Amino acid sequence: MTELIKLIIDGIIFIFPAFVANAAPVFLGKGERWNAPIDGGRVWKDGRRVLGNGKTIRGFVGGTLSSMIVCVLILALANQFSYSLALMGYIEQGLLYSILHPLGIDFWTNKVFLGLFLGFLLGCGSLIGDLTGSFIKRRYGLQRGESFPFMDQLGFIFMALLFVFPVIPWPLYWLIFLVPLTLILHIVLNLGSYIIGMQEVPF
Ligand code: CTP
Ligand code: MG
Repeated sequence: MTELIKLIIDGIIFIFPAFVANAAPVFLGKGERWNAPIDGGRVWKDGRRVLGNGKTIRGFVGGTLSSMIVCVLILALANQFSYSLALMGYIEQGLLYSILHPLGIDFWTNKVFLGLFLGFLLGCGSLIGDLTGSFIKRRYGLQRGESFPFMDQLGFIFMALLFVFPVIPWPLYWLIFLVPLTLILHIVLNLGSYIIGMQEVPF
């Protein structure tokens, strides 16, 4: 039982930077400056915006950087817990390890490098998942902010997990608790940021 709880906690800690990347753009302020949309205002063949005004360069860069910072902090604090040990076990089974280790490159032994790198992959993955979702929504004719159940809540996490897989081949059973947990957290966080006025819609 305690082993199971440990595994679940490891999984949650691991994915946490992806959540930060997904949530940070909402909290990064709503000023007019640096608010350029990633698609540069361009429209797709169907006459609708490629991504829309909800996807800004500031949100993307800020979200990725936030994820990197949080991931470095997690690894700095994780010394005492099973987490960093578990992480090393996964890394040694990864594709990146199998390529770099024989070359004598073991940058993951430096916690700061590892944190920056994992944070980058999780953050970038999360936000590219988010962009992919917006692209699909625009193709379906949904306006910015309109809801697309499940893709809105889960798209980012799948892409983050995909991005990080060559480095950390996470066990598939993580999905059993990560998917419901993500759904619940996403709904709670969005409701929360709607209530405190950070967001115009509660989803
Ligand atoms: N945001 C941003 N840049 C990003 C992602 C999000 O600036 N790359 C900000 C925007 O202010 C956005 C808010 O975070 O409105 C909420 O993000 P999200 O729900 O993903 O965007 P939506 O506005 O719902 O747009 P879409 O319909 O395209 O998902
Ligand atoms: Mg939204």
